[in-house]
Amino acid sequence: MFSSPVIIEPFQIKSVEPLSLLTSAEREQALQRAGLNLFRLKSREVLIDLLTDSGTSAMSSAQWAAMQLGDEAYAGSRSFDELEKEVQSLTGFPHLIPTHQGRAAEYLLFRMIAKHHPGGCIPNNSHFDTTRANCEASGITAMDFPCSESIDFKSDFPFKGNMNLAALGDYLRGKTIQEVPLGMITITNNTCGGQPVSLENIRRVSEMYRAQKIPFFIDACRFAENIAFIQAHEKKDSSIQEIARELFSLADGMTFSAKKDAFANIGGFIALSDDRWAEELRSDLILTEGFPTYGGLAGRDLAAIAQGLREVVDENYLRYRLAVTHYMGAFLDEHHIPWLRPAGGHAIYLDAKSFAPHLSWNQYPGQSLAIQLYREAGIRSCEIGSVMFGRRPDGSEHAHRYELVRLAIPRRVYTQSHMDYVLAAIHYVFQNRAALKPVLIAKESARLRHFTASFSM
Ligand code: F0G
Repeated sequence: MFSSPVIIEPFQIKSVEPLSLLTSAEREQALQRAGLNLFRLKSREVLIDLLTDSGTSAMSSAQWAAMQLGDEAYAGSRSFDELEKEVQSLTGFPHLIPTHQGRAAEYLLFRMIAKHHPGGCIPNNSHFDTTRANCEASGITAMDFPCSESIDFKSDFPFKGNMNLAALGDYLRGKTIQEVPLGMITITNNTCGGQPVSLENIRRVSEMYRAQKIPFFIDACRFAENIAFIQAHEKKDSSIQEIARELFSLADGMTFSAKKDAFANIGGFIALSDDRWAEELRSDLILTEGFPTYGGLAGRDLAAIAQGLREVVDENYLRYRLAVTHYMGAFLDEHHIPWLRPAGGHAIYLDAKSFAPHLSWNQYPGQSLAIQLYREAGIRSCEIGSVMFGRRPDGSEHAHRYELVRLAIPRRVYTQSHMDYVLAAIHYVFQNRAALKPVLIAKESARLRHFTASFSM
């Protein structure tokens, strides 16, 4: 019987969009206009856009069809009921609070928490940048407890996204809900390389929070990718849905950006168990996002998210999804290009510190590498290092734990030949890495500076 050595894309292309092939001079002009900040490029100036996997998915024909059937009623929308049913059956959480995207869910949740317990702290394996910023804007301290394996980029430890249980335990000892009003974990751990968290680790974290009556929420943007790793390494005989139910039963709620694993171009939600919190969140929702049965979304968006959640738990899709980063990782290994091993779910992270050892942290090696990938090949990636995280709330500067360049893979958008092009470009830039130049920050804003800063070289 034929057994394919190739894991193929489990979809065919029905609608296409042309790519823009700029000349090298045009790219240089674009870079100068954008102040060497890839966030400030126009999309038409980019050939392969790996800036983010968020909101950039190709929707399926079933999602587009669901959008046509979206119910736009202000109150009591059928599309809300459909999404609520889907979320309840996937997660077991009874309450659904729809928001326009993940950070709106974070904003609502943290603002409510800060109202009850001002000045507390929220621990996480690693807060993502918007999560951290929303915490801090609510007057809450955001603390990270990444596992020690996460800093060894060479090891093949399969769950480098884990929480550091010993450090969390030390921190929580003797703390009350006043001091720690909420505990979180992020799956997959985007800030630590899109690495998954094991079910065992989530269970232990849940036990620790629950022992101290601290409510526990999961930042579940990439839950399905995380579960695919759990299935591969921990729970071979369980289905994705079974693992999802088990995993979410360990928590009191979740924040979610539907722009990732739900293949939607916009959307998010909070799902949770507690009736009183749900009531309070719904009344805050009306102030900022909208009526509780649509939140910040159109009915058609709710319908697309419901359909996306049905599609993302498909094992053939998830097998293909993880094969993409695995394939890229094998190439990088073969050419001795430093990257954060092993392959995570949604992205490949190049290790810019080892890639450009002649640059110190405050010469921003990640930004330098990201600029060069665009300059040479029109590829847009994203620095996750001292530009993104090197500025403390008090304005002082420090070296971040690592200097990475993230190449995030939009879902169902690019083919294997696009990825081959990306790999060839990385290889070229690596061979010519001595040409990577120091970067200076010419202008920056006080918060989330990486989005708007200007650089010089
Ligand atoms: N949590 C995590 C782990 C994320 O990765 C993101 C977004 C959010 C929350 C916020 O969700 O964008 O819908 O408001 N990450 C994107 C990224 C932006 O590129 O990694 P959002």
